[in-house]
Amino acid sequence: MKKNILQRIERKLFRKVLDKSECKNNFIYDFNTYFANCLDGNNGKDQILSHVMLSVHQLEKGMSFTKSARIFGEEKALSIVKNLRSFTKKYGNHQIVSLATNVLATYLSNPNSTKNEQSRNIIASYIEENKVMLGQYTIGTKVVKEPPAFDEQKINEFFFSRNSVREFSDEPITDKEIMKVMEFASCTPTACNRQTSRVHVYRDKALMNKLIENQLGNQNWCDNATAIFVITSNVSCFNSSYEHVQAFVDGGLYAMNFEWGLHLYHIASCYKMYVRLAEVDKEFHEISGIPDNEFPIVLILAGHYKKEPIISPKSARLPIEKGLNLFIH
Ligand SMILES: Cc1cc2nc3c(=O)[nH]c(=O)nc-3n(C[C@H](O)[C@H](O)[C@H](O)COP(=O)(O)O)c2cc1C
Repeated sequence: MKKNILQRIERKLFRKVLDKSECKNNFIYDFNTYFANCLDGNNGKDQILSHVMLSVHQLEKGMSFTKSARIFGEEKALSIVKNLRSFTKKYGNHQIVSLATNVLATYLSNPNSTKNEQSRNIIASYIEENKVMLGQYTIGTKVVKEPPAFDEQKINEFFFSRNSVREFSDEPITDKEIMKVMEFASCTPTACNRQTSRVHVYRDKALMNKLIENQLGNQNWCDNATAIFVITSNVSCFNSSYEHVQAFVDGGLYAMNFEWGLHLYHIASCYKMYVRLAEVDKEFHEISGIPDNEFPIVLILAGHYKKEPIISPKSARLPIEKGLNLFIH
């Protein structure tokens, strides 16, 4: 009896040591991959673009403070010009280049833009050289007011009619449907509007099975799906250590809205947790062809509904209660 208890304590302690060491290895792996793909500047292309997006966002914010008479944005606008020039020289055109060029033009015509002649000339000559891009994006500011009354019942119906579904029909999900879902998910806010989320779609059964196998297996349902969406976040878009988990925040928010988009278009789905262990992650990147600077956030397994209803776990929600999940400070 005493021996049994001792053995159990020993096993528990051993498990704890193992868990601690595995956890440490994974944190080190995360640190190394984040550092290599973000802080160390390995991926020049994405990093330049994300700096541009950050500066564009700051210029747009400056433009939105209409009550302020403060001159703003000189440094940011010059940095955009510098980044755009070096980007296009190395990599050619890009949607963000067009977007930023439009923002520069709007900035320059803002009454509170820089009054420094030399800076204005630098910005103006860049715009002149790239004027073909003007008008391709509507940028600057927008008018925001309280939205009209919502039909509360219909909206509740929409949100509460989503359920995780783990059985699907054979009808494939089309590219057109995916585009519509992404259009919906583009409503997601992102840190400094950098839009770091990416969607990787897999519909080939053999490849899907390999991905599922890598992610610790089928769980008795995953192979029912006709598509796997891997939602990733590009860590090269972040540039400080204080943002080291921002990829998961931005990617998580995007993944939720992607799921709402699927629901809106009557596509059934269920998340599958992304198993982020060093060796598993390396292999996943190899199988999926996802670049190393994109961190997978979550998998979404999806398909069209079957004709007949299916049985799903109830997944009861906890009550909303002070002291349980509500803390009013
Ligand atoms: C990040 C995340 C990971 C999940 N991973 C799995 C999973 O690996 N397997 C699974 O069957 N369900 C998974 N789910 C689905 C949850 O079990 C489900 O969302 C929860 O029970 C609530 O049920 P509902 O989605 O039907 O409202 C996951 C959900 C989330 C948000």
